[in-house]
Amino acid sequence: MLNLTNRRQQRKQRNECRGSVFSVIFSEIPAGTDILVLCGDLTDTGLPEEARILAKELKAAVNIPIVAVLGNHDFHSGKQREVESILSEAGIVILNGEAREIKGIGFAGVKGFPGGYGRGTLAPWGEDLVKQFVHEAIEEALKLESALAKLRTPSRIALLHYSPIQATVEGEPLEVYPFMGTSRLEEPLNRYPMTAVFHGHAHHGSLEGRIGNNVPVYNVSLPLLRAKFPGQAPFRLLDIGPGNNGLLVQGLDKEMNRKQQREQRV
Ligand SMILES: [Fe+2]
Repeated sequence: MLNLTNRRQQRKQRNECRGSVFSVIFSEIPAGTDILVLCGDLTDTGLPEEARILAKELKAAVNIPIVAVLGNHDFHSGKQREVESILSEAGIVILNGEAREIKGIGFAGVKGFPGGYGRGTLAPWGEDLVKQFVHEAIEEALKLESALAKLRTPSRIALLHYSPIQATVEGEPLEVYPFMGTSRLEEPLNRYPMTAVFHGHAHHGSLEGRIGNNVPVYNVSLPLLRAKFPGQAPFRLLDIGPGNNGLLVQGLDKEMNRKQQREQRV
């Protein structure tokens, strides 16, 4: 009983701490941001109480539309439907193979799945469990394709938790690449006109890469952004609009980064 109480206290303290971390992060959302995109692992262990804390913090701190996908952490306790329901009730748009238009921007989202990249992509061959594993990745890719096919907006954003390309995983130990995502998720992205793709999960990966049709892919996992941009808000800002579709504006200093990007293009 004492242990249980201690565990409860520890969990409560951990959650309180998590809540205060959220407050700090959300207070750093750059002014003028129109839509917030979250790429999964919204909870630590997928517990409803963690989702409630996040929902409360988001409601208190964020007054712009939020679109998100779940991550593997959100599935850990087998309560992902409850987690999704709590976050949805708080007004967060959770995409799981669906498409949604928000402020004229089209969003398609799916969690994705591991499986490896390129020639190293796991094939559905041999044991049933291996085939099931691969079929889960294929199923996620089909869900993504189905969502992408519904988008009709000029600007289209895909959000995933797992990475669709190896380039944004590089930096992780080579041994874990197959667990960071799979090329199977890239295939549908190459078939539709996209503005940008966002994902999380690869904490030690690389910030940016490109899918086959040259659309940028941004790894926005929080530890990576914290490490790469110390002292800056842990967000990537994308300007999407007429004549400016998908210009990356990094950090808070929009004007300075715009100037830098113009110079880079010249
Ligand atoms: Fe993850």
